[in-house]
Amino acid sequence: MPTSAKKRYLVTAALPYANGPLHLGHLAGAYLPADVYVRYLRLMGREVLFVCGSDEHGAAITMRARKEGVSPREIVDKYHVLIRDTFQKLGIAFDIYHRTSAPLHHQTSQDIFRKLLEKGHFEERETEQYYDEAAGQFLADRYILGTCPVCENPDAYGDQCEKCGTSLSPDQLLQPRSALSGATPVKRPTTHWYFKLNEHEAWLREWINTGRLEGKVLHDPATWKAHVLGQCNSWLDQGLQPRAMTRDLDWGVDVPPEIPRSEGKKLYVWLDAPIGYISATKQWAADHRENWERFWKSEDTALIHFIGKDNIVFHCLIFPAILRAHGEFILPVNVPANQFLNLEGAKLSTSRNWAVWAHEYMEELPGREDDLRYNLIKNMPEQRDSDFTWKGLQETTNTELVGNLGGFIQRVFVLVHKNYGGLVPQARPEQVFRSGWNAEQEVTLDRELFALAKKLEEMGAEIERFQFREALRVLMEISSAGNALLQFNEPWKAAQERAEEVKAVLFAAIQYAVALSAAMRPFLPFAAARLRAQLNLPAFEDDGELVALINDLLEGNAVLWPDHPIGPPEHLFSRLSDEVIAAQMQKLRAAASPVQTDAAAPAPSVEYPPVKETIPYEVFAQLDLRVATIVGAEKVEKADKLLRLTVDLGFETRTIVAGIAQHYTPEEVIGRQVVVVANLAPRKMRGIESQGMVLMAEDAQGRLCFVRPDEGWPVGFGVR
Ligand code: 2FM
Ligand code: ZN
Repeated sequence: MPTSAKKRYLVTAALPYANGPLHLGHLAGAYLPADVYVRYLRLMGREVLFVCGSDEHGAAITMRARKEGVSPREIVDKYHVLIRDTFQKLGIAFDIYHRTSAPLHHQTSQDIFRKLLEKGHFEERETEQYYDEAAGQFLADRYILGTCPVCENPDAYGDQCEKCGTSLSPDQLLQPRSALSGATPVKRPTTHWYFKLNEHEAWLREWINTGRLEGKVLHDPATWKAHVLGQCNSWLDQGLQPRAMTRDLDWGVDVPPEIPRSEGKKLYVWLDAPIGYISATKQWAADHRENWERFWKSEDTALIHFIGKDNIVFHCLIFPAILRAHGEFILPVNVPANQFLNLEGAKLSTSRNWAVWAHEYMEELPGREDDLRYNLIKNMPEQRDSDFTWKGLQETTNTELVGNLGGFIQRVFVLVHKNYGGLVPQARPEQVFRSGWNAEQEVTLDRELFALAKKLEEMGAEIERFQFREALRVLMEISSAGNALLQFNEPWKAAQERAEEVKAVLFAAIQYAVALSAAMRPFLPFAAARLRAQLNLPAFEDDGELVALINDLLEGNAVLWPDHPIGPPEHLFSRLSDEVIAAQMQKLRAAASPVQTDAAAPAPSVEYPPVKETIPYEVFAQLDLRVATIVGAEKVEKADKLLRLTVDLGFETRTIVAGIAQHYTPEEVIGRQVVVVANLAPRKMRGIESQGMVLMAEDAQGRLCFVRPDEGWPVGFGVR
């Protein structure tokens, strides 16, 4: 069943561990896609509940408390507030941000545990487990370290090797040692409750791969991401085993005390954490005098979990098995997990402090929440790992937000003020002008608005498919078409003589701006709100405004009427300077600790190329180096490495063929300032005469980057 056929949506985003601040990887992995999705659904008038909260139990918390020498309670209190506020400042609009230390959550988790026990889903088993005699504690999960049997990483955890990604149990570790004292642990008997996951293997396989369960179609597997299905099937193929759902710990949800032998036992954090989605819903319902059960116990609800790829097995296999074993709950219709975000080409690492912390970003770059949202959505690791770079942020902000989107809005406002004193003009319905979608095509307003509506629908369809990068691309196509509308019709030329045509063009352009104010909202909520205010339109109430807008446009109807007064022109976005970016890059490198190299492996030695033979100054002075701007770029056919660049030297424009196509796309280079060797003899490459050379820096891996002057430097002058 398509999710759009459901009556309501329950959207969850992975509960972050309250053991540290959020970094950009968290945002790009789960929270931004969830927020875009929810904001879109609301604009489409669908009923949505968006829940999240802090995951406050488990070794992640207790180990952090130990490291800082404080109690787990102090840790979770501190980070719960920090994380909650960070989300809020970034515009991630949960209906509730709950916490798993809340009594309601403890009670909800215990009730579910009781029910599973009553229904015979647990097996009580006594096993020998590792115990640290010095610390007086059993060592589960991250409390035990050892050598990975698969990749020989000496620091693998008892639940997973972070180097090769294999999930492990403590017994698989070679040379186990306690994470608390470093001592070699001993074995002691202990009793735990094991969930019989093996009994759920058959239906899980069927449900995941076909969407069917007991003759009903619950989801369409074609809408699930390939890497999510792949990970689930790889687990299923290895055979599911019973899993312990309790731990010997002193921090967490108690195993219900009336159960014999429960003393000192807590629920496994991966049992209680996803139940956090249910308790958050309950708390929200209590706060709003609502019924929580209609979200969790009705097949009219589409349940969607947004997570990162390390959480797939818990959300696609274990939690669904728990929900079904319990018997009263629905299953997710999709789990659109993302892959990981890297940072400046290297894996994000909280322990090495190789991270951009979201709260620091917002403190240091205030008012730039949307710049970050835009960049992270554009680079979202939807199908594969992706990379955040500070330079990339500068590029998307300055070129796409300031240049394309902000530029369009600015031009429309300036022209409407200049020509009509800030009042939307009256356009004649039969007036023709050139379409923003095609310079060759003459259209009337209704056709142009119909095309605009279709684009909005296309954007929505991409969001419904969880293709947020594509959806953002479509949003920017609308803005580009708005710019083209102005470019093709040139309403600034002979405005008096072409009065009716100019009115029609600017009337259409204003309709584009209104459409953009709605379409931007899922991605750029702050700028969308500013644009609404600038248009002198009411703020969004997330009440189906986009549906209403699309329906009007499809009919060819305007969405802002003649004589409506718009506000004065203001810049919607502002440029990010080289200095700000350089300072952030410097901070990142200064704060990071060096990469831990494998003790056995020799430190990588860098080979610097030898310095070339000395030349007299006169030889150097023969070079004529000039600052230039790349104004055009395209791939050279049948040459993987070459881009054909058009560079503006101020006094002339030249063609230069550069071997950079494996490092930059044509779109990435247009607009850049570069340094050009201007007096190099021309030579032919693939039949094209290259009239100079662009200077590039090259590192040990053969990566290339531009050598360029400070931003805004005048072109055409020399470099020495
Ligand atoms: O990986 C994590 O950060 C976990 N705290 C996610 C929990 S998601 C859910 F189950 F609550
Ligand atoms: Zn390993």
